[in-house]
Amino acid sequence: MPDNAYKLIPADFDPVPSLKTLADSSVTAVTTLSTELGAIGIGVSVSGEVPSALGLAREALEAQGFEAKVGQTLIVPQRSGTTLIAVGVGDVGGVAGSLTAANMRDIGAAFARAAHRSSRIGLDVVGATTLDSEDSGRLLTEGVLLARYRFNELKPSSKHVPLTALEILVPADEVERVSAGVRTGCVTARATCLARDLANTPPGYLTATDFGNIAEKLGPQHGLSVHVFDKEQIIAERLGGLLAVNAGSVEEPRMIQVRYTPDDATGHLALVGKGIMYDSGGISLKPSDPMHLLMKMDMAGAAAAFAAMTALKELGCTTRVTAFLMCTDNMPSGSASKLGDVFTVRNGMTVEIQNTDAEGRLVMSDALVLAAEEKPDAIVDIATLTGAALAALGTHTAPVLGNNQELVDQTKASSAATDESIWQLPLEHRYRKQLDTEVADISNLGGKFAGATTAALFLNEFVDGVPWAHLDIAGTMQVDADDLWRSQGATGFGARLLTDLALNFVPPATTKS
Ligand code: BES
Ligand code: MN
Ligand code: ZN
Repeated sequence: MPDNAYKLIPADFDPVPSLKTLADSSVTAVTTLSTELGAIGIGVSVSGEVPSALGLAREALEAQGFEAKVGQTLIVPQRSGTTLIAVGVGDVGGVAGSLTAANMRDIGAAFARAAHRSSRIGLDVVGATTLDSEDSGRLLTEGVLLARYRFNELKPSSKHVPLTALEILVPADEVERVSAGVRTGCVTARATCLARDLANTPPGYLTATDFGNIAEKLGPQHGLSVHVFDKEQIIAERLGGLLAVNAGSVEEPRMIQVRYTPDDATGHLALVGKGIMYDSGGISLKPSDPMHLLMKMDMAGAAAAFAAMTALKELGCTTRVTAFLMCTDNMPSGSASKLGDVFTVRNGMTVEIQNTDAEGRLVMSDALVLAAEEKPDAIVDIATLTGAALAALGTHTAPVLGNNQELVDQTKASSAATDESIWQLPLEHRYRKQLDTEVADISNLGGKFAGATTAALFLNEFVDGVPWAHLDIAGTMQVDADDLWRSQGATGFGARLLTDLALNFVPPATTKS
């Protein structure tokens, strides 16, 4: 962190506080819950016996509006000691009601929120459910840790109680398998919280330079080699898009290259992340509405890609993964790129800038060229690219587009496994002409409609036929209010999806679809 006294950055500011919080919290599978817990969650299904430990009949629960649906909880205060919480687990026995993985994560999250006053909590739901025990351990861990996340670093007045212990009650013969799931869940939750921290950090506190420093520090701790390119090296590498966006900023850009190289790799996946540390719009200045306030999170794609990289070694990933994170802010100034300016991408293509607020695709173009030069089996990019993605699918679901159906299908499978929802939009090539201009090879601005598609068509120009999928996370990067495992603020969307994708990656056939 540079010495920026004028920015009033506290000397002890920790840009990734979750790493410490999570390191301090222990998650264990136990056969008896310890006695000093603040709250214990007890699973209740919609029909059948109510566990006697709750000491209440179903009618009493229902009288309070508790129907035992997934996501429902009811606090049952006790005369003294540990609070009990009824935790709905849905229709476990019913044919239509078999619990999904997403349900199980939601159950953990709902309980963790209901127990927000307690730092040490225990959960007795595994016996009431039917899921595989390793999956249960992982899903409950993710749900609880992600729900208890909060970015508090700059709010000394916060009353938030950090989680220090989660005990998951299991039968003796399942301790080992649940524990294995817990270990996985701790890694994926930690990665997600890292992505959230990076996106939640104010823009003055996390510049491209800072991001590079953090990557250099954390990378080696997770078996990654990190190479940070400074402005001089970026010029030498001819990354014209990154430089064009950075032109108006007093902060230097950074291109962060991260490599995970397992022995006997089973494939090579390249990731590309949009790292706009703050998107003012540049000369095409954004209006001062609440949306503008979110633009410190315009690096959420780079954060998610980097975070996913930090999970690979511990989870035994056999895919080689190379990430390119394109970091700069997008600022107006006397030196900023102007409308009508033309720059040259690393591959020699020229781009006319018709709107400086369509900056994401400019920095991504160089990165996609760099990625394609490595001749990987596939490229997946992740970017807070267009307001059109938010308009089309809202804050729960991100558009995915690509040039290879096998690869897109793999991203969909990872989406389903992680409950980071995506939906495929067609890469409609008939809209490509919207990007034509008399002045250069391509314009960075499409027409009025299908903005997420024209942005993807722009990116498609730079992947050189390599199987490629694009995740537009402009809508899903943040939530306004707590919602199960999504905590208010940056969601870290993509960190778990990309981790799962790398873990299960199979090189797709290279025939285009
Ligand atoms: N970072 C924004 C997209 C965005 C919008 C992210 C809302 C998160 C929430 C991006 O750089 C942008 O400004 N896109 C423009 C593109 C347009 C000028 C073609 C947009 O979507 O309006
Ligand atoms: Mn923009
Ligand atoms: Zn942007």
